[in-house]
Amino acid sequence: SQTKVAVVVGSLRKESFNHKLALALAKLAPADFSLEVLQIGDLPLYNQDDDANQADAVKRLKAQVAASQALLFVTPEYNRSMPGVLKNALDHASRPYGQSVWGGKPAGVIGVSVGAIGTAMAQQHLRNVLAYLNVPTLGQPEAFIQAKDGLFNADGSIGDASKAFLQGWMDQYVAWVKKHV
Ligand code: FNR
Repeated sequence: SQTKVAVVVGSLRKESFNHKLALALAKLAPADFSLEVLQIGDLPLYNQDDDANQADAVKRLKAQVAASQALLFVTPEYNRSMPGVLKNALDHASRPYGQSVWGGKPAGVIGVSVGAIGTAMAQQHLRNVLAYLNVPTLGQPEAFIQAKDGLFNADGSIGDASKAFLQGWMDQYVAWVKKHV
């Protein structure tokens, strides 16, 4: 049977490197894994007053996460942390209190940035939040990707310099997920 992976990308930018990375990773996954990038750009800003009456976009996000067996976060780093759009999505689907949909779903964290430390700080902040949300998150291998010419081929696949590394990361991620589902 298929293992459904909900992919959350922390950038809304049309030409996002992280969105590209998410799509390229989907192609490195085995045939029994299906990765789907969730839409988070239309979520309202989280407001606790709305907990009893969540917006349709929030209900959609929660239903998609609930219907998945695993999570994959692909995020840039903004000012040494995760982007607000990603934190907003995490907060929305964690509420109302006691009705979080994140808990227990195995996850991987990865990201690409133009900076030299390749999203390391953003990933660490994200790991902190995921720990609280009771999301078992792959610890090793870590993957901090710097956006450089040749990272992606023209067809969006991973270029030769990073392909073996990212395939290895994906294989370990898949093994991690299989341990938990
Ligand atoms: C950045 N960028 C960035 N890069 C980095 O390595 N560390 C950082 O702390 C930051 N901070 C930061 C803040 C803000 C507000 C922006 C818009 C950008 C640069 C970032 O890596 C670059 O814009 C990437 O292209 C963003 O990822 P996507 O949108 O291509 O997926």
